[in-house]
Amino acid sequence: MKRCSAPGKVILFGEHAVVFGKPAFALAIDLRITASVSSSDQYLVNGRPMKKQHHVYVSKALDEAWNGPPIEIVTRSRIPSGSGLGSSAAVTVATIGSMLAERGRFRPETVARKAFEVELAVQGRASPTDTSTSSNGHGVLVAQEKMDGFLWRISAGDKAWSMHHRDVPGFTFVVGYTGIHASTGPLVAGVKKLVDSSRDAARAVDRIAEVVLDGVSAVEKGDKARVGKLMLENHGLLNSLGVGHPLLDKAVEACERVSYGAKLTGAGGGGSMIALTDDPVSASEAIASVGCTPMTVNVGCEGVRLEPRATRAD
Ligand code: MEV
Repeated sequence: MKRCSAPGKVILFGEHAVVFGKPAFALAIDLRITASVSSSDQYLVNGRPMKKQHHVYVSKALDEAWNGPPIEIVTRSRIPSGSGLGSSAAVTVATIGSMLAERGRFRPETVARKAFEVELAVQGRASPTDTSTSSNGHGVLVAQEKMDGFLWRISAGDKAWSMHHRDVPGFTFVVGYTGIHASTGPLVAGVKKLVDSSRDAARAVDRIAEVVLDGVSAVEKGDKARVGKLMLENHGLLNSLGVGHPLLDKAVEACERVSYGAKLTGAGGGGSMIALTDDPVSASEAIASVGCTPMTVNVGCEGVRLEPRATRAD
């Protein structure tokens, strides 16, 4: 029996534009998903027979990383699904990690590559941001060219992304979860359609790329005021790409006086927003006041890792 856990993520800058090959910056968070695999006489997921239509990510993960006899997969999640916090990437990474560990082939890079193939197959269009962040943990800077901290390069069709490790400063983020489930695939497809037909949308994607690079340098300097300003700009640009939601705007506005800045995070259309703040109590109150669920998260956490066997308490 092997057991792995993997973190969720927040995207600080660059979601959606990264699917077009632009840069992005994502941070692993301290909400984790655990997956264990053990031998069984049939394929089971959480005690039920595995069905491709119900267990979309887990069954694709199995196609990608398992060629042995039937197994039972048990997952435990602290990340709401469809929340924009990387639950599908984390479940895929944890499941692939435990299958590779069972085969004696556990390596974060191998996990990241295989997990990206799964997300790409399920979503139709995808970047390796979420899966590589869940695999590496800490901060991950996605860029075209190789830079300091280079981890691995992943390509799909005519696109390629170089992934880089970044240490993350001790910033405090409060997540605001709207409770509105949003599927990434259709949102990503909608942005592609818009960018193909509108010059303004294509320009917004180019501007996001500049915001990401400026934002990463502000993070490295510890310049929270600049980071917050760029988060707000990134939020507006994502709205112009059609992936916003009125409740996300309300939560971002509610955080105006209690944060450096805020933005939607992940695919949008609902899901979650994040606020960078020195006052997580007031930011949480502001987020709750508009009907979202606040969660203060620690960022820069460890990536996919082997865990000891589950105990009864797990
Ligand atoms: C979703 O967390 C991030 C997106 O950029 C999609 C992707 O990168 O695959 C919206």
